[in-house]
Amino acid sequence: MDDKNLFGVACLFKDPNKLLPLVKKIRELGFKNWDVHSAYPLHGIPKAMRLKWSPLGYIALIFGLSGASFGLFLTWWTMSVDYPLIIGGKPWFSFPAFVPVLFELTVLLASVGTAIVMLFVIFKLPNNRHPLNDTEYMKKVSSEYYGLVVESKDPNFDYDRIVSIFKEYEPSEILDINYQELELKYQPKVFDWKFILFLVIISAATSAFAYFYNNKVLYLPPFDFMLNQFKLKPQESSTLFSDNFGMRIPVAGTVARGEKFYPFKGKPEEAGTKLVNTLEPSEENLKLGQQKYNTFCSPCHGWRGEGDSRLNGQFPNPPSLHTEKLRNWPDGRIYHVIVEGQNIMPSYARLLSEKERWAIVLYIRALQRSLNAKQEDLQ
Ligand code: HEC
Repeated sequence: MDDKNLFGVACLFKDPNKLLPLVKKIRELGFKNWDVHSAYPLHGIPKAMRLKWSPLGYIALIFGLSGASFGLFLTWWTMSVDYPLIIGGKPWFSFPAFVPVLFELTVLLASVGTAIVMLFVIFKLPNNRHPLNDTEYMKKVSSEYYGLVVESKDPNFDYDRIVSIFKEYEPSEILDINYQELELKYQPKVFDWKFILFLVIISAATSAFAYFYNNKVLYLPPFDFMLNQFKLKPQESSTLFSDNFGMRIPVAGTVARGEKFYPFKGKPEEAGTKLVNTLEPSEENLKLGQQKYNTFCSPCHGWRGEGDSRLNGQFPNPPSLHTEKLRNWPDGRIYHVIVEGQNIMPSYARLLSEKERWAIVLYIRALQRSLNAKQEDLQ
């Protein structure tokens, strides 16, 4: 017995009904450090032991409420503040739609948080050493016996007295439970290099498997899940059409949705006399014009329309937009160039809406005025 210490004294019963009176007796005698073990929950025992309620319920409540508040904040922040989207005409903060998110986060945090607290705080994992582990007593109460242990650290512990109390209840067996000092001092080696290596190998293997399974195995022929489809990318040629052009021009005479038929095709002078810019030269419209001009026109015409292209000679430089000719052109005439293009300048009708075209015309007017200001502009 030199390296063995007494953990406690235990008794075993085959019949749970014989255990119950003993439990009551032990509790009445005022023992503090004692416990009952069985392979499954026994009705009446917790009550007879006067067990306190486990704190786990409150822990689950706290985690659940945190999950719910986090979910509420997340849905409110993403859907009402950071990236509001109109979905079915509903308000930004449409509570019913967020209930599933709230529910999921509540359940997730409550279950994961409670399990972590239970395992690592209450059970003190990764340390799983306990004097009862690996004992004959544990083996028996894990199968057909029901047991009770009084620990030696109990202030009322008196070996002979306890054994005599046990004997009154006719147990099948009374046994001492010993442990080794060494065993209790055992520290789990979580940072042992072999354990770390094991974790690294496991994670690398799982990642590699997941990668190959999800990216390769799943798509083995014939299961390509439409990954490879016959389609044309912009600028690609196609043998489907006799002219081998992949990008098609709309059939002559078609008018796309939201667009108007342009009646001045090939008639620039008529466009100049008949088209009128109805757009106000407001700050908003000029801003729009500036933005669109800078995007679509300035690469060739220059930031201020002086014909100073940024294309380094890859496209012929256009004439300045500040010529006498252009200043005298009516608005509709400039509009016409945007719609139809002019000689080598292509049409920009497909890229710009009617409003945007007129806004650009406004902006060109502003540019012209800026480089050719009159005396009265200064007042
Ligand atoms: C790819 C280069 C390029 C882009 C982009 C471009 N243009 Fe032009 N533009 C030209 C060239 C080149 C000419 C001269 C065409 C010619 O020889 O008649 C021209 C001519 C013009 C003219 C007539 C000038 C004149 O004196 O006859 C106007 C007006 C005009 N562009 C407006 C615009 C507007 C508005 C945009 C933006 C929507 C735009 N351009 C985008 C190259 C471009």
